Amino acid sequence: MLRVTVLVSGGGTNLQAIIDSVNNGTIKNTKLVGVISNNAGAYALERAKKADIPAFVISPKDYESREIFNDALLAKVKELDTDLVVLAGFLVRIPEKMVHEYSHRIINIHPSLIPSFCGVGYYGLKVHEAALAKGVKVSGATVHFVDEGMDTGEIIFQKAVEVKEDDTPETLQRRIMEEAEWKLLPAAINKIALNS
Ligand code: GRF
Repeated sequence: MLRVTVLVSGGGTNLQAIIDSVNNGTIKNTKLVGVISNNAGAYALERAKKADIPAFVISPKDYESREIFNDALLAKVKELDTDLVVLAGFLVRIPEKMVHEYSHRIINIHPSLIPSFCGVGYYGLKVHEAALAKGVKVSGATVHFVDEGMDTGEIIFQKAVEVKEDDTPETLQRRIMEEAEWKLLPAAINKIALNS
């Protein structure tokens, strides 16, 4: 049974897709053992509580230094006996120590076709604003392993999504979430769970 801890910062629609996929059997051999957010107000925490998943707030703001935060985050992940860490809209940099201790055991969902529109400063709506500004006709989402870089790890899955003439960053974000993110992240977890 793959023990999965999900790290979140916002609304948690990707977390909800994972919860629903475990419940309906799309994701097999998996137990969601914890949800950790840096943001106490994240609606993702409500989704976790409704699904009876242990939920924790671990925020850099609550620690004297970033290093002490990093240690607290890693300690909680270990305390949960985590096999796989899933970043589902988590906006805090993963500590290098955690990347090394969980090498090939941390995955991230990014709302573009990496290597386009990724790296420092590309998150949330900013990704879609850049894609529209560039005038791309296709965008999408990428699930990848997390390494020391930002959105640079080995790609697991990608899915292309059409960009429409009248798209706004919001409409494009929603379509990529519905048609790509909410499918790719569960599929990646299931692939890892079946190979674990
Ligand atoms: C969204 O912008 C999504 O594209 C990206 O992170 C954000 C969080 O979405 N992966 P949610 O918290 O999963 O709804």
